[in-house]
Formats: sequence, structure tokens, C-alpha cells
Amino acid sequence: MSKHRRRLTLRFRLTLLLAVAVMLPLVVAYLLVGQLGKTAANVAASDASLRVESMERATHRYHELVNVTKRVQGEMAERLAKRPDLAALDPNTDLKAIIDDPAQAGLRALAILRADGTVVTEAAKPQTGPDWRDKVVDQQLRADGATLRLTFEVSATLQQELQDLKTSIDGTRTVTQIQSALPETYQFTFLVLIALAGAVAAGIGVAFSMRETRRIESLVATARRVADGHHDARAELLGGDEMAELGDAFNTMLDNLDETRRQIEYLQRMGVWQDVARRLAHEIKNPLTPIQLAVQQCVSAYKGDDARFKKTLAEAGKIVEEEIAALTRLVDTFRTLGALPKVEASPIALADVIEELKLDPTIAARLSLKPPAEAVTVRADKLLLKRVLANLVENGIHAGLEAGNKGDVVIAWSRDTRRDVVAITVDDHGKGVAEDKREKIFEPYVTTKAQGTGLGLAISRKIAIEHGGELAIAPDRAPTGGARFVVSLPLRGPESSLA
Ligand SMILES: Nc1ncnc2c1ncn2[C@@H]1O[C@H](COP(=O)(O)OP(=O)(O)O)[C@@H](O)[C@H]1O
Ligand SMILES: [Mg+2]
Repeated sequence: MSKHRRRLTLRFRLTLLLAVAVMLPLVVAYLLVGQLGKTAANVAASDASLRVESMERATHRYHELVNVTKRVQGEMAERLAKRPDLAALDPNTDLKAIIDDPAQAGLRALAILRADGTVVTEAAKPQTGPDWRDKVVDQQLRADGATLRLTFEVSATLQQELQDLKTSIDGTRTVTQIQSALPETYQFTFLVLIALAGAVAAGIGVAFSMRETRRIESLVATARRVADGHHDARAELLGGDEMAELGDAFNTMLDNLDETRRQIEYLQRMGVWQDVARRLAHEIKNPLTPIQLAVQQCVSAYKGDDARFKKTLAEAGKIVEEEIAALTRLVDTFRTLGALPKVEASPIALADVIEELKLDPTIAARLSLKPPAEAVTVRADKLLLKRVLANLVENGIHAGLEAGNKGDVVIAWSRDTRRDVVAITVDDHGKGVAEDKREKIFEPYVTTKAQGTGLGLAISRKIAIEHGGELAIAPDRAPTGGARFVVSLPLRGPESSLA
């Protein structure tokens, strides 16, 4: 129950994190855009209000201009009407000279009318252009009703221009009232697009994280299976990324754990054997001497002359003697196993230990060495390590001779810097070891030899493990054709050992 919840929580948290991570900048962008719209509208509005001001000034000038023009025209009309020559209604008055006079600029035509409306005299200039139109002003000339008709040229487009200006002022004024440069719909569309983008991004993220959480779950499941006792369970994370690497590292760790567990089990088994061996050695050894003495006494105490009985007695004495010798040997092996000394490691040159094997003449003639180019120093107990190697060499010589081959043995060693260990191989010319016997031969008292104790490999493996290393038989035959035994010792020494 709690297992399940935790897994969901991880996935949920990842999803939430993704959604927030994606949506946060988008929402901020949305708010910023709204703000931007308002700011832009503000700028536009202040700009527009400036323009409205100057345009209003312009219309004001227009109106002033029109008023001034009207006044000038009125004054001109009054001034001309006061001239005596015009008031005389003389038909020969030179009106042309008056309208050509720059003092009367803007005056295009002039006519003197009687009270009945008939023309006394008139003069006119052609129109300046299509943009101009006439504006007629009648000015009373005399009390009898005669009038002076003045025709001024005024701009035909002025009115229209004024109207246009008013329209654009109105238009600009509405700009100042706009609150935001972005219409609501734009902003809404933007929001929808953001939401869509966020959903897609979050979806992709969730899909991706699902893959990762699934792989993590696979790791967790493997760890649980191992914890439940399935020591061979391994994680399978496909791909070439860090997760796959983690899976590999995890599997390597499980392998190491498995190996360590097996070593511990082995040492425990050996411990039990050692206990039993010690007790048996003690129990058997004690009565052996009294038995032997008693039988010897029996044999020598008989003074009778029954030749047959004497012979039987002597034979019995001999059998007891032999069996006691065998039992003594057995007790010795028990004692060997029971009284294995503790590892006392110090740095030693591996080559020296191996060279010293040649001090034994039975070994010297059959042993050849293949040292590495660079000398290797290990932290080891010299005596115990020598015992391991001597055991392996003796087994190798025996195996070679037993198979009817050479009894020669080859020891080679080299350091494996990647694993920080030195590997020592012992190769022989024997028949090798059948696959189904490869683990069995390391158990105590497993032997195929008449005089064997079956303790050599067991003791050797125990010593190797107590050095923080291991002893195993190689899965393949040695180049010499026989078995290959491999002793691995850590270069650093036995501080990480199980001893
Ligand atoms: N180099 C080897 N080649 C073939 N078999 C071997 C070799 N070394 C050991 N064995 C097998 O393993 C058994 C156990 O060896 P060991 O523990 O040394 O005890 P012992 O030598 O007293 O038999 C041997 O009896 C033999 O059957
Ligand atoms: Mg042996």
C-alpha cells in the first residue's frame, strides 16, 4: 500500500513540477503582454492628446483667419464706398485700376449698381484657379439705394479642409480613450495558445518522465526481489544513457553482493567444519594412546605356546597399530583445519613468495614461473599465501601425473589495474575438473585421492577470502591443457576482507 503511494507521488510530483515549470513563464508572458498593450495604449493616448492640441490650435487659427479676412473685406468695402468718384455714379470711373491696385488684394470684380439694380459700370479680373470661388459683398453706396458690389476671391477648399481637420481631431480624440492597444479577443487567443503549448510541453514531459519512473520502478522491483531472496534477479534498463549506466552499476553491485554473500556463507560453513574438526581431533586423539598401549601390553603379555593364538594376536596388534596410525593422520588433518592461524598481512613482493616455493625439492623440478614485467607488491600473510600456492602446485603435479602427462605446473601473475587486484594463475597438465565438480572440490573432505584429505582447496579458499580475495577454478582449460586455478588478491590488502 505504502509502496504504491510513494511511486505515484514521484510521478505526480514530476508532472506537477513540469506543469508549473512550463506554465509559469507562459502566464507571466500573458500578463506582460496585457501590460504591454496597456502601456502601448497609454503612449499612443498621450501622443494623440498632444496631436489633438496642436490640431485644435490649427482650427483656431483657421477661424481667426476667416474672421480677419471678413473684417478686411468689410473695411475695404466701407473704404471704397466712401470714395466720392464712386458715389457720383460716374460711368467712366476706372474700376479696373481699383481692382488692380495691390491695396485691394483679393478683390476680383467691382460693380456700381443703381437702386433699381442696373449696372452703372463694372470691371473684373479672371478667376485665379479652380480652388477659388467668389464671395459677393454688397456695400451701400448712397442713401438712394445705389450699391457697390464687391466680388472677393476666397478659397473654395478652406471649408472642406476645416471639416477634415475636425473629423481627424475627433478620430484622434477617440485614441486617447482606448484603454489597451490589444483587443480582448487577441489576448484571449494568446491565452488559449499558451495553454495549448503548455499542455503539449507538459504532455511530452510527462510521457518522458513516465519512461524514467518506469525504469526507476524496475530498479526498485529488482532490489525488492533480491531482498526477497532472489539473488539472481537483475535490473534490465535498455538504452545508453545514465539510467542504463545506473542499471549496470546496480547489477554489478548485486553481483558483488552475491559474491560476498557466498563468501560469507562459505566462511561460515568452514567455521562449522573447523569447530567439528577441533572437537573430533580432541575426542579421538585422547583415547588413541591408551588403546595402543593396552594392545601392545596384551601382545607382549601372552606367554603361552599356542602358536595359532600368538599369530592372531600379533596380526590384531598390527591392524590396531595401522588403524591407529591412520586415525592419528586423520586427527592431524582435523587439527590442521581446526587450528588455522589468523591472517597477518604485511606488504610483500609477490615474486619472493612464489620463488620460495622452489625451496621444496619435489616442487622445484616441476615449477616454472611467468612473472609480469613490473614487480607486484601485495599485502598478504606470507606463510598462508605460500601454503595456498603450495597446495595448488601439489594438486597440479598430482593431476598431471595421474593423467599420465607431465607433472609440470606453471604459475603466472599480473595485476589487473581496472579491478585493483593481482591475479595468480596455476596451470597444470591434468584432465581438468568436470563442470559439475567445480564448486564441490572446494568443500572440506572432498577428495578423489586414496591418501587425500580433501582439505587443500578448502583451506586455500578460506585463506584467499580472508585476504579479501578469492580462489576459483577457471571455467576454461589452461593453455597447458589441464585445470587453471586463479587466486585473486586485492592490491590494497585485506582491510576490506571478511576476516
Ligand atoms: N589441478 C587439479 N586438477 C584436477 N583435479 C583437481 C585439481 N586440484 C584438485 N582437484 C580435485 O579436487 C579434489 C580436492 O582437492 P584438495 O582439496 O586439494 O584435496 P586433496 O588434494 O587432498 O584431494 C582433489 O581430490 C581432486 O579431485
Ligand atoms: Mg590437495
